[in-house]
Amino acid sequence: MIIEPRMRGFICLTAHPDGCAQSVKNQINYVKSKGDIDGPKKVLVIGASTGFGLASRITSAFGSNAATIGVFFEKEPSEGKTATPGWYNTAAFEQEAQKAGLYAKSINGDAFSNEIKQQTIDLIKADLGQVDMIIYSLASPVRMHPLTGILHRSTLKPIGSTFTNKTVDFHTGNVTQVSIEPANQEDIDNTVVVMGGEDWSMWMEALSNAGVLAKGVTTIAYSYIGPEVTEAVYRKGTIGRAKDHLEATAFEITDSLKSLDGKAYVSVNKALVTQASSAIPVIPLYISLLYKIMKAEGVHEGCIEQIQRLFSERLYTGSTVPTDDKGRIRIDDWEMREDIQAQIKTLWEIATTENLTEIGDLAGYKQDFLNLFGFGFQGVDYMAEANEMTLIPSIQ
Ligand code: NAI
Ligand code: NA
Repeated sequence: MIIEPRMRGFICLTAHPDGCAQSVKNQINYVKSKGDIDGPKKVLVIGASTGFGLASRITSAFGSNAATIGVFFEKEPSEGKTATPGWYNTAAFEQEAQKAGLYAKSINGDAFSNEIKQQTIDLIKADLGQVDMIIYSLASPVRMHPLTGILHRSTLKPIGSTFTNKTVDFHTGNVTQVSIEPANQEDIDNTVVVMGGEDWSMWMEALSNAGVLAKGVTTIAYSYIGPEVTEAVYRKGTIGRAKDHLEATAFEITDSLKSLDGKAYVSVNKALVTQASSAIPVIPLYISLLYKIMKAEGVHEGCIEQIQRLFSERLYTGSTVPTDDKGRIRIDDWEMREDIQAQIKTLWEIATTENLTEIGDLAGYKQDFLNLFGFGFQGVDYMAEANEMTLIPSIQ
């Protein structure tokens, strides 16, 4: 069928298989253009189908020749209905991996569950024996706790007092004031359960107990800090509490990996347009200003540029991994540059509906958002019939 974008609020209901394939190919080409990385060889990516997780899988495979197993939660296609983008991304990734002679298999299901952890362990045992790198890149609004069966929902709220600031509806370009009521303790606790480090440590414990972790294993999860203007709703809000927990969990996991000489890292990444970040108020306005400035300074990056740099200039340089005073890898260094943040502050004050197309990169935001769903890519014929039933080779 001919597939067009169908927007509903912060999501797009359709995805384009050929556009997603183009996106994956572009990312592969970028990684190849940067040369070989002396990195991991057998990699498990949890949250492997979109955003930073997909970029991590591509960088592992096409930068470091790694065999990859990807875990994610995506909707398969049905007659007349497209799959979610991560499904088509993975279909394309596996095809490209096959062509390149690289092992790649995928598991579609709830990564928070015991069943999917067991299925992953069985697959590692059967095909790879062990893994030497585990990338934890889940972003989810809900988590069914495997021990209690309780469904926890995360929230994006400030803590302590109502937060009022500017935001933009990136579809219309309307800049308005948004007020968000503060979280209660339950909101905070639930958000930590969903987006904190508990599931990451459960994964590592299960993998360790199953004996499928290689000596010297590395695991990494992704965090965010960001600027003052988003602090109340992000780093000092409910999601920030979850990130505090995630970052603390890295130290616990490192301790638990002692006998294997293993290490757990958190990398603080740059703010980017993904399905997860588009749903957070205030962030889209910040991102549209940030993109404009970083592009003008020649330091703009997408997920793939971020992760390629994380691997080649932080994790696998052959010497000590540089971290900040809290033990975190910083790949948000260009976003957080003083001159860039100073410009943001000035522009934030004056941003309105009327001037945002001028002072911000609203067009770039929209383009990236369309790209998430496989739309707006050069070299794709969107007027042609597309095969919405495209399957992932390893999942039938
Ligand atoms: P994303 O929405 O693009 O990717 C989320 C991934 O998790 C997808 O592969 C999805 O299928 C998978 N997933 C979600 N729920 C699942 C479940 N129950 N079981 C299995 N898989 C599931 O998100 P994004 O932005 O790449 O986020 C990944 C990590 O990076 C998150 O921890 C996020 O906080 C962090 N991060 C994001 C930044 C941003 O600006 N987007 C900035 C810095 C860090
Ligand atoms: Na991801």
